[in-house]
Formats: sequence, C-alpha cells, structure tokens
Amino acid sequence: MKSPISQLAEAVQESPTLALNEKAALLKERGEAVIHLGTGEPKSKTPIDAIIAAAGKLTSAEVKYTPVDGIPSLKKAIVRYTEENYDKRVGVENVMVSAGAKAALYSLLVSILDPQDEVIVLAPYWVSYPEMVKLCYAKPVIVTPEDGRFEPSLKEIKEAVGSATKAIIVNSPNNPSGVVYSAELIKGLVEYCEKAGIYLIMDDIYHKLMFDGLKPVSCFKYAKNFSDSSRLVVINGVSKLYAMTGFRIGWAVANKKLIQVMTNVQAQTTSCPSSLLQAAAVGALNGIQSYVDSLTATLQNNRDVMVRELEAINGVKVIKPQGTFYCLPDFRAYSKDSVALSKKLLERAMVVTVPGKEFGMEGHLRLSYCGSMKDTLEGAARIRWALDPDSTKEIYIGDRKCVRDWK
Ligand SMILES: Cc1ncc(COP(=O)(O)O)c(C=O)c1O
Repeated sequence: MKSPISQLAEAVQESPTLALNEKAALLKERGEAVIHLGTGEPKSKTPIDAIIAAAGKLTSAEVKYTPVDGIPSLKKAIVRYTEENYDKRVGVENVMVSAGAKAALYSLLVSILDPQDEVIVLAPYWVSYPEMVKLCYAKPVIVTPEDGRFEPSLKEIKEAVGSATKAIIVNSPNNPSGVVYSAELIKGLVEYCEKAGIYLIMDDIYHKLMFDGLKPVSCFKYAKNFSDSSRLVVINGVSKLYAMTGFRIGWAVANKKLIQVMTNVQAQTTSCPSSLLQAAAVGALNGIQSYVDSLTATLQNNRDVMVRELEAINGVKVIKPQGTFYCLPDFRAYSKDSVALSKKLLERAMVVTVPGKEFGMEGHLRLSYCGSMKDTLEGAARIRWALDPDSTKEIYIGDRKCVRDWK
C-alpha cells in the first residue's frame, strides 16, 4: 500500500517557534507565570493608519479577489518604499505582494529551483529556509562562520558554491543573532552573484529595525544590472516593521520576468493575498512613519537591558545585536545541548527560549526582547537564577517563592 503522507512532507520539521508559542500558551492557561522570550513579534499595537484603511475597506462591503500580484495602490506604495529606503526606482511590474514574506519567499523558491539544486544558507539562519528549500526537492547547503562570529566571510561563502548552486539567502539584520552584515559583505555578495549568475535573495524583513543610528545598506547600490537577467531579489513585508504579523502581507521585488513566473505560481496556489489586509498594508506604508522610529527606540532600550543582564551571568557570552529584536548568547559554559537547556529553563524558571540548534548554532539560545521591559528584565534574571550558582538563591516566579536547590 502507498504511504498516506508523502516522503517530502513527512521530512519537513515542525516550526519550533510556532510549537513553542503553543506550549507557552498552554502553560499560561494553566496559570503559570510564563515569560516568553521566544516570540517573533513586537508587542506594539497595529499603526492607526493601517486600522483606519482596513476598516474603510471592510465597511465598503466589497471584499473580493484582487489581482494576483496585489492591488495597484499597494504595489505603488511598495515602489515608493523601495525608492525611499533603497534609493532604487523600480516599476510596479517588479513587485509581487504575498500573504507574508514567508509566502513570497516560498513562491520565489518554487519559481527558481529544480530538484537537486543547491541553496546556500548562512548560519545562524532563520529556521524556515532549509525546510522551504527541501520542500522544492532542492538541497540547503549551510555555511557556518568559523571564527565564532555570526557573519560568514565572502571566502567561506564562495567555497560552498558549486555547479549545483542556484541561490544564496541573506538575512541582515539577522534572525536569530541580531547581527547586521557589513556593507563590504553585501557589496561582495551582490557583485559576486551578478557575475556568477547565482540568485541573491535578500530577506530584508528586519531592515529598518536597526539600532545605534545605523542605517540599512541597499543591495541595489552595488548592482549593475536590474534587467530581466538580474538575479537579485528583495523580500520584505509589514510584519516586523509595523508589528503587523497577523496581517500576513509581504512582497518580493525582482526582475519583471521572474515576478511574472512567481505570479503564476501564486495564482495557482493562493489566488491573491487578502484584499482587506492589503488595504491595511497600504495604510501602514503611506501613514505616519514615526511609528517605526518609536518601535526601534523601544527595542533598542530592551536590547541594552537584555545584553547588560546576560553579561552579568557567569560564563555567558553575547554579541551585542545591532538590529531585530533577538540575540543569540552562547550558553556552552552551562550546556552544549541547547534543546535540553531550553527545556530546563522552561521547567525551572518558566522562561521560554528557542534552542540555537534550530538555527544551526548549537550551544546557543535565541532570546527575544520584543516584549515589555519588565519581561526582558525578569526573564534574564530568572535565567541567571536557574543557571548561575553565584546568583541569588531565592526568587519569585509569579507569587511562588523559589529556592535554587541544584548546583
Ligand atoms: C528572517 C525572516 N524572514 C521572513 C519571516 C516571515 O515574515 P512574515 O511574517 O511576513 O511571513 C520571518 C518571520 O519570523 C523572519 O524572521
């Protein structure tokens, strides 16, 4: 008898971050004082401009299919966004809107990959890249920086390129490390991929969430070619920048021919992103942009507190993030097994963390600081209490007084 589930689908890993969200919700329901340092979404409210735009669309009672590649007003807003933030004038025919950056990325990979093609993924990497590549019957090739930093060198990346290499995926600012790749590396990659005819996929979903006055580097600055033979693709969306994760609107900017193929793929799979949520995204993109500045300022404050608290834990090493709302401290002084460590922290201290193993960095934990300042402080304090024998012996977890009785 034939297996009821395809081998391909069976091999796909459960999304560890989504699984953790469910576990944390269950514990919370049971009344546990859980602190969630595993989340991937800012807690800020949706920008009012997005709400007003979506409400206007809803009350029109005209919520129908839209063009597959997105409504014209949203595509125009993305063209303007690209000009303002990348200093690059593209046409509406270079843009496809999707149900989240994830869906844009998936349509892209389906459109460019043949079975056995290879895609270079830079560790630490977002958990979905290898799985999405595998879903296209292609092979992820992981490049891990050797020097313990979180930015591979151009040399290391080039060494992984072979005759089957079709694409390189870059995510900077990076989930899970918060590291921003140097302009030198981006320049090198754009120039190298253009010459070698390899797709360079820039997942820029965090690109304006940068700290200490840093500004995002535009990959287009280094590209000579954006004609139909260009292999440069930018993925972006409203999820992180405007804290609109539940709206599921993302997009791809690429050469016109590729966008046409991706649009055909999207037409046969999702038809179009929701008309209501596209209206909300137009509101966010055309609305008051000081929202992004205040979100970034809040995240930077939280980052400072998180890093300070982590540095106070004996043996923990942390690279200060320059963007996103994540950091990826090295906990190898306590355990080389990040899954076991993460489980221990949930059991002992009711703190949710994501094991570094899921991002290709064993011995590390990904901690988010996009919650409240109180959660950031208390979460880090609980981790310290649970691990560091030199820290205070007693803490409160909710209204429960806990005494450390392990070494
Ligand atoms: C690096 C990266 N790319 C893409 C996405 C997906 O974004 P969206 O929610 O718009 O699908 C995420 C979400 O966590 C992410 O971290």
